[in-house]
Amino acid sequence: MDLNVLILPGDGIGTEVTREAVRVLRHVAGKFNHGLHLSEGLLGGIAIHRTGSPFPGETAALAANADATLMGAVGLPEFDSAPPSKRPEAGLLGIRKALGVFANLRPVRTYKALIDSSPLKNHLVEGTDMIIVRELTGGIYYGTPRGVSGEGAEERAVNTMAYTRPEIERVTRMAFQLARGRRKKVTSVDKSNVLENSQLWRKVVLEVAHEFPDVVLDHLLVDNCAMQLVLNPRRFDVVVTENMFGDILSDEGAVLAGSIGMLPSASIGNRKESGAWAGLYEPVHGSAPDIAGQNKANPLGAIGSVAAMLEYSFGLTEEAAAVNKAMEIVLDSGRVTADLKPSGTPATTEQVGQAVCEAI
Ligand code: IPM
Ligand code: MN
Repeated sequence: MDLNVLILPGDGIGTEVTREAVRVLRHVAGKFNHGLHLSEGLLGGIAIHRTGSPFPGETAALAANADATLMGAVGLPEFDSAPPSKRPEAGLLGIRKALGVFANLRPVRTYKALIDSSPLKNHLVEGTDMIIVRELTGGIYYGTPRGVSGEGAEERAVNTMAYTRPEIERVTRMAFQLARGRRKKVTSVDKSNVLENSQLWRKVVLEVAHEFPDVVLDHLLVDNCAMQLVLNPRRFDVVVTENMFGDILSDEGAVLAGSIGMLPSASIGNRKESGAWAGLYEPVHGSAPDIAGQNKANPLGAIGSVAAMLEYSFGLTEEAAAVNKAMEIVLDSGRVTADLKPSGTPATTEQVGQAVCEAI
């Protein structure tokens, strides 16, 4: 198979973790005899510095022509006081929208070798295995009106959480379809005791659920869900929620996995004619400027995102399983970065990438 993949290293540790993810991708392509065609583009702070835009037209064209895109991370401290539209993050929001990847799949699972890395009690987190399906191209991230107006006591800022029925339907269907291949349970998360937006969310989810009588549905308010995630994480199979709730809950999920550096993500939209998903793959963590350039960031979130790409965009389940298995071997061997190793000598970013390749 020919794999046309666009690489967007982005900012901070994005460059380092993507380098290792690409190492693994090359290794898999070589081992399983696939043709790999890589292109590279600019996104985020580096794109602003080089072109003036966080999501340059050239990157949009490269992404449109690629079968899948692998992204590192975006965000740089020098833009901390810039308005949202001029920040590196605007590039990420722009590419998600341009690719139409409305469902962001964030698997959260505990690995045996990492059980002590979670600050939570082992008996609570052991066996956790869920996917958070975060709506990715709507809600308060994109709603209008938005902006700041007035001055002094009159200064005011507005954001809008808006969803249309079709936007809720398609991501809900995705969640139910995923649940069918798992433990057949969907938990929908909203704030319907306060927000009209969430009331529509819950109503539409209930309607879509009728198409999936074999899947059990329950609803949680987002505040309660935040609590249940740490009280009883095993109760969750597939969680479906709107954009910002999903952003927040998935960072909480990282505590279950032991480190945010572990979490991969797959953002998918509609199926192409080939049956594969158009996709954007990125670790859940950010650009971590404080540790950038030091060869100590955990690349496993990015490497796990490569596994997700092989599976969803290319349908290469055997290759994806090989990467996931290799990650487990490396975790068991203890060759892990500092975030997972409170004592002893940690491995470097590069060593973890090399270890995963060896294990494949
Ligand atoms: C994430 C990140 C992004 C988001 C930021 C960098 C815009 O936090 O992917 O979770 O909020 O979607
Ligand atoms: Mn986030």
